[in-house]
Amino acid sequence: MSSIKLRAVVALSGLALVCAAQVARSEAAVPKKAAAPAKKAAPESKSAIAAEFEKFRDIMEDASPAELFEAKGAELWKQKRGPKNASLEKCDLGLGPGVLKGAYVRLPRYFADADQVMDAERRIVYCMVTLQGFKESDLAKQPFSKGSHVPDPVSLVTFVAGQSRGMKIAAPQKHPREREAYKVGEEIFDYRAGPWDFSCATCHGDEGLRIRTQDLPDLSTKKGAIAAFQGWPGYRMTGGLMHTLQWRLNDCFRQQRFPEPAYVSQTLSDLMTYLAVNANGQVYKGPGIKR
Ligand code: HEC
Repeated sequence: MSSIKLRAVVALSGLALVCAAQVARSEAAVPKKAAAPAKKAAPESKSAIAAEFEKFRDIMEDASPAELFEAKGAELWKQKRGPKNASLEKCDLGLGPGVLKGAYVRLPRYFADADQVMDAERRIVYCMVTLQGFKESDLAKQPFSKGSHVPDPVSLVTFVAGQSRGMKIAAPQKHPREREAYKVGEEIFDYRAGPWDFSCATCHGDEGLRIRTQDLPDLSTKKGAIAAFQGWPGYRMTGGLMHTLQWRLNDCFRQQRFPEPAYVSQTLSDLMTYLAVNANGQVYKGPGIKR
């Protein structure tokens, strides 16, 4: 077995074990029949609701609430904070210390200092730990927006993402570890398990899939994969909270009835490498709005 395959299997069999335990515990709460995505009657029949939503989103994006979080992130970036009383201005997002322009669309990438492939959120957390002295375990306690609480990394990722607005996605595949991350990400994407025997591909590996009124992007194709980038980080009108792509992926693991991967884990960076490379060449419009 190749070492890549082994890594995916080890990561996922760990997940599967926890999964089995979780299923045993939550069997009663899980509906008997899986909400398997349905094929649309005709590919051009984008639902009227979806079309209305698109119009609404266009209007909203002119004065996007995401910009508030970009501004908050910009402030946090410059402030001296944490036990080391340092700012993040020396944080290297891959293009050199402090270089923000275009960094987001060139992530995930391999970082020699950490000897890891890292996505934007993981790298920002790494900088908060190494430069500012925050503890990763503290940041991981409640990493996603909830109620009125928006964790600092969410605002920081939104700020960093905004610095790549209008740029082409160009996630690198030069370093062998970046290619390995892509492969592992692909295997995770296609890995079927859990009580419903779903993989990401079950819901996102075919054109024209939909759950209720939600169109599901085919993330395995160049055309569809942009959905994993566009509008993320996103202000979600459902609940009115700002969310990063890590949140979106964790929520999909939950929908898949898999246990959620640990915050800023390799699993998420691998998966994001797969999604970003699939979207390479397309233009990123910046943080946005999501339903
Ligand atoms: C049970 C079906 C299901 C499974 C399995 C699933 N997802 Fe999703 N996914 C959804 C739904 C529903 C949405 C929200 C679509 C919307 O809001 O329009 C979504 C949204 C997304 C988005 C954001 C797309 C956008 O347009 O913003 C990404 C990226 C994504 N999923 C990735 C994944 C990955 C990676 C996996 C595997 C870990 C996965 N999903 C598994 C149902 C699923």
